[in-house]
Amino acid sequence: MSYLNNAATTWPKPECVINAVRDFMLNGGANSSRGSNSQRDMKTMNIMLDCRIKLAEFFGGYDDADPMLVTFTSNITEALNVVLNGYLREGMSVLTSSMEHNAVMRPLRALEAKGVKVNVVRADSLGLVHADDVERELESTKYDLLVMSHASNVSGTVQPVEEIAEICRKSSVPLVLDTAQTAGVIPLNTKDLGLSALCFTGHKGLHGPQGTGGIIWKRDFASIVKPFITGGTGSYSHLETQPEDMPDKFEAGTPNLPGIAGLNAALDWLKETGLDTIAKRETETGQYLLDGLRKIDGLTVHGMPDMNGRLCVFSVNISGKDNGILADELSRLGFETRPGLHCAPSAHKTLGTFPQGALRVSPGFFTEKGEIDEFIEALRTL
Ligand code: ALA
Repeated sequence: MSYLNNAATTWPKPECVINAVRDFMLNGGANSSRGSNSQRDMKTMNIMLDCRIKLAEFFGGYDDADPMLVTFTSNITEALNVVLNGYLREGMSVLTSSMEHNAVMRPLRALEAKGVKVNVVRADSLGLVHADDVERELESTKYDLLVMSHASNVSGTVQPVEEIAEICRKSSVPLVLDTAQTAGVIPLNTKDLGLSALCFTGHKGLHGPQGTGGIIWKRDFASIVKPFITGGTGSYSHLETQPEDMPDKFEAGTPNLPGIAGLNAALDWLKETGLDTIAKRETETGQYLLDGLRKIDGLTVHGMPDMNGRLCVFSVNISGKDNGILADELSRLGFETRPGLHCAPSAHKTLGTFPQGALRVSPGFFTEKGEIDEFIEALRTL
């Protein structure tokens, strides 16, 4: 079997991640801040703090990478919901791009129904958002927020985030970045970019377990966002209102502790492996796949023409062939991909692949060149 669906979740996970989850379940397993400070309680709290420190450092957090400005959530969808629902209210305006996943689009459309004005900057047919289009929009209209993805989960197109961040800084518009596809693949620095919030997932490029994710906040932005999810925090138990202190403000309920233990180990693995090594390998694999795809008659690769400005994520179509049937046939031959619309209808409309969608092929760090050869051969045969 060849796993070519790393854009959905990376697999396999590093051995140390599996061991850390197992060790937590077997030898730890206590809740966080909800015990008697036993050794098991302390072990849980240490893992959480250790992971917060590593995340703040990994993403270049604010205030000397203050770990208290890290919020854990169950996934990036929850992270984006916490930020968008906690900040935007009736009468406010938000700008986004046409390349967004439904993790951004659906919360925004729900907020639109409550009186938030939502505007969309259209990307070009390669999936690229042009910084000057964003600049023009921010100059012509007053916005309270820009939220956008760093790279498309459909075409792998990487957006010019440095330029866009600079435009936001000049216009004093808070920028929230969805890094679902880039965290652990492209170096990111929240502080250098001046992001108000960076939302991440743990189970894609970071190579952690599913059910993990979070937010790296700018302190003043966190202080004006209202908690979207409220409940027990193991602190201030005399209060019936949500604490204002970070990180409790945005972390009600028992967290995914086995997942956080795994994510903690994944961050060590990333550091040892090096983002440069990961990026180099994925770019080489991507180029190799792209060269193979180009040799298949009647096949269109959507998005950027080469590896410049794209991730190792490829959406393709073969003329006269339904991409869902193709994915099924490939699956029977042992190749796992993802067809359809990838929870991103607006991105597919932008790329010209709506409503039929596309077959997405996404090798990962562990994909071997031999698997790509076999995949190309299978695709040619089909
Ligand atoms: N958003 C993920 C994907 O693109 C799950 O498949």
